[in-house]
Amino acid sequence: MDLELVLNRYSERFDNRLVHYLETKLSDEEPQIFYEAIRHVPLIGGKRIRPILATLCCDALGGYPEDAMQWGLGVELIHNSSLIHDDIIDGDTKRRNVPTVHEKYGIPLAITVGDALLSEAFNILSTLPEFRMEHHGIDVVKELIVSIAIAAKDLYFGEALDLSFMNRFDVTIDEYMVMIEKKTAALHWLAARGGAILGGGNAKEIEELSKFGRDFGVMFQIKDDLLGIVGKEELLGKTVGIDIKGRKRTLYIVHALQNAQDEYREVLKHLLMGDPRPGDVKMAKIILDHTGSIRYCENKLEEIKRRAKSHLKILPESDAKDVLLEMADWSVTREK
Ligand code: IPE
Ligand code: IPE
Ligand code: MG
Ligand code: MG
Repeated sequence: MDLELVLNRYSERFDNRLVHYLETKLSDEEPQIFYEAIRHVPLIGGKRIRPILATLCCDALGGYPEDAMQWGLGVELIHNSSLIHDDIIDGDTKRRNVPTVHEKYGIPLAITVGDALLSEAFNILSTLPEFRMEHHGIDVVKELIVSIAIAAKDLYFGEALDLSFMNRFDVTIDEYMVMIEKKTAALHWLAARGGAILGGGNAKEIEELSKFGRDFGVMFQIKDDLLGIVGKEELLGKTVGIDIKGRKRTLYIVHALQNAQDEYREVLKHLLMGDPRPGDVKMAKIILDHTGSIRYCENKLEEIKRRAKSHLKILPESDAKDVLLEMADWSVTREK
């Protein structure tokens, strides 16, 4: 299977729906600058992984992919909202290869736009096509609303944990894993869960696909951290090395702080304090080489990938299941 081609096909279908939604529901009213800023991030592109996950999970359970695509639209807008706020928090100036919303429109408008996109998810819930109100004793609408509430809270709890780690040198790997499960995997969990609910899954199927989504999101973030230091900036669309300069506790940093010999540990601690200096990223890479921290992350990814795939055993054989399995491999090998 040519996964890139398959993913491109899904994201093109999704983009048509997104453009239609933005043009009809979030078009130029007053103040125009607000609507322009709202459309800035969603229209610039992105991999659309969360809507694709939702669609495939629904499809794999024999549901109507169109229902899940609309659900995916809601999740994608929550994701876009979180990116806008995350870029303010992290002080990042580039996203999807263009200036971030706060860089272009200023922080006050970026806060407003982020909030507006989050609430849009509830609007979209009300536009979901006709679907079963109850299946296997599960109240579909209630379950979807509760899931959004859990994921949105987890997301910001995770962002707060990420911030709280910044001045600590004793963050454990378990603490890091909880943080990324919240800040990142919450939305992959939400996408897959909604897809499974709309696909008419029973309680066990919904749980297994939700867990697949969560594991996928965890792998996604570990890989994102890795790409953030060894990736190519043109492919990523964001600044490489920014996590080191931002003193972020990524998995390789947490591992290196725990495993470096004393003198390297001191250099690393010094590097993670105070203002960024030229040569920080280069020095960090030398230390990470000594501690084997990049290799540690790669091994961790393989371990989570096996667990992620095991959650799909519950599904009958189908094309959608095959794509989900390949996506688990891709989350480890991807370059963008
Ligand atoms: C970026 O997510 C934020 C993280 C969770 C690491 P994506 O890499 O899915 O961003 P887009 O939507 O493709 O731009
Ligand atoms: C990812 O945050 C999760 C959210 C956006 C909430 P990061 O700060 O790690 O991701 P990037 O590198 O900015 O995309
Ligand atoms: Mg960020
Ligand atoms: Mg961040």
